[in-house]
Amino acid sequence: MFETINPAAEDSILGLTVEFQKDTNPKKINLGVGVYKDGSGQTPVLSTVKEAEARLLRSEATKSYLPIDGLASYAELNQQIVFGSEHTILSDERAATVQTPGGTGALRVAADFVRRISPKATVWLSDPTWPNHPNLFGGAALQASSYPYFDADSNGVDFDRMMAVLETIPAGDILLLHGCCHNPTGADLSTQQWQEVASLCAGRGILPLLDFAYQGFGDGLDEDASGVRIVADHCREFLVATSYSKNFGLYNERVGALTLVAASSEAAEAAHSHLKICVRTNYSNPPAHGGQIVAEILGDPDLRQRWEVELADMRNRINDMRHHFVETLDEQGADRDFSFIAHQRGMFSYSGLTPTQVQALRERHSIYIVGSGRINVAGMTEANMEYLCAGIVDVLE
Ligand code: LMR
Repeated sequence: MFETINPAAEDSILGLTVEFQKDTNPKKINLGVGVYKDGSGQTPVLSTVKEAEARLLRSEATKSYLPIDGLASYAELNQQIVFGSEHTILSDERAATVQTPGGTGALRVAADFVRRISPKATVWLSDPTWPNHPNLFGGAALQASSYPYFDADSNGVDFDRMMAVLETIPAGDILLLHGCCHNPTGADLSTQQWQEVASLCAGRGILPLLDFAYQGFGDGLDEDASGVRIVADHCREFLVATSYSKNFGLYNERVGALTLVAASSEAAEAAHSHLKICVRTNYSNPPAHGGQIVAEILGDPDLRQRWEVELADMRNRINDMRHHFVETLDEQGADRDFSFIAHQRGMFSYSGLTPTQVQALRERHSIYIVGSGRINVAGMTEANMEYLCAGIVDVLE
């Protein structure tokens, strides 16, 4: 049966790391996968994570299964950080959370849930979006379609064209929005734009699904949650897929959450029972370690305060790199205006480099970025900046 199988394409993001690891050039730079690097080019374990792990090592008494929906304390703390601890969604018990293996696991549970309750619904994705989105929803046998998002001339959101398509989406379809730090463009909706989108969803009966993987990487924990909270102000029902890979640096622990908000606590409870079936039939119950770390940190005022400092350090370094990148490209004589990169937010920016230029960058300079031209700004350092910018200027010529 296996003799006739043709090889599948490598993943457009994770496959780059495989190629990067084979590259023997000592100057090689990987700006492909969205992983944070510190000033010395390392992806560190946060000190608060180390401390939480040490505490867990001392206190952990069992490796028995977690419940299907994960740790209850984790679910509660997750809702507090997403909505703010005083939000009426919490006091009205309108939210149900399942702990998932990463943000991708959360998206897949969301997809399976939608397929279960509304199999004909179409999921609308921004153009462009994270390349795994269409594969993931297709894998769950849901229809996917796209709405315009990015304007390559202004390097910002093409809001008029976006809204023109959103206004045609039928009731009951799903609108996937990036909660903050849009992946891959780095271009986010303004407050006013969030309000218009949220009001349109409420008016048309469209279900928002927020992919929320970078909270704290843009402007701050609450600032980055403002889009999600605007949706909460307008829409009685929506879904939030959280990832703690980036803001806790817990990439390989696979820690995320899917939160469903319903119009009433009874509806949330009923929907929760279906989320649990989606989990049980997929991976049974979540891995414990990452969720325990997050719960330990968020549940302890001292650890939480120290984690917020570590998070701010990561955010500030990324935003510094954005400015430094623009300045260095200019110094190196780039004949193109890259100043938009300094204003974008999160790990990524769309560089505007063509697939041919991306390939030349890899072949001539061992600099790896995603074929779409997406650059992981969080992989830049003071040490690799000159080499990186010289390479880019070379392929632009
Ligand atoms: C990315 O977009 O690079 C990250 O979200 C990692 C991944 O799984 O693709």
